[in-house]
Amino acid sequence: MKTALLLAAALAIAAPAALAAPPSPPAGPAPTPAPTPALLARGRAAYEQHCARCHGPKGEADGPAAAALKDKPFNLAKQRLQAAFVFGAITEGIPGTPMPSFARLPAEERWAIAHHVEGLGPPR
Ligand code: HEC
Repeated sequence: MKTALLLAAALAIAAPAALAAPPSPPAGPAPTPAPTPALLARGRAAYEQHCARCHGPKGEADGPAAAALKDKPFNLAKQRLQAAFVFGAITEGIPGTPMPSFARLPAEERWAIAHHVEGLGPPR
């Protein structure tokens, strides 16, 4: 009985301290950066550098390297692709096709490209 009371008292003292502890940082992957004008500008530049030679300046699958490819590049302008889908595609690449993985680029740059590509499609 005495032990139980002491335990309760100890918990009563410890609990407020635990509640006052600062929140731990969020676990898991970094949050998706919002498509601000600055991020979209970065995405456009990175797209021109990494993607346009195959997918074309506007995503119409008509880049200078496209003609020589056996598997034709995907038309990114025909329908509006979700940024998350594009992010996945450029992170993984498509094995067995000329579509490379861009996992070496920082995640923020991949998101910037993904948001730019979403904007190549017709407006919602
Ligand atoms: C060397 C040429 C080449 C480059 C560079 C390239 N792609 Fe591709 N991409 C392709 C080809 C070819 C396909 C179609 C693959 C297939 O047959 O399914 C494709 C497919 C895709 C798809 C469709 C994915 C799917 O699941 O169907 C997306 C989205 C895409 N590319 C985005 C990009 C972006 C964004 C970049 C730049 C970061 C890029 N690609 C760079 C050749 C390229």
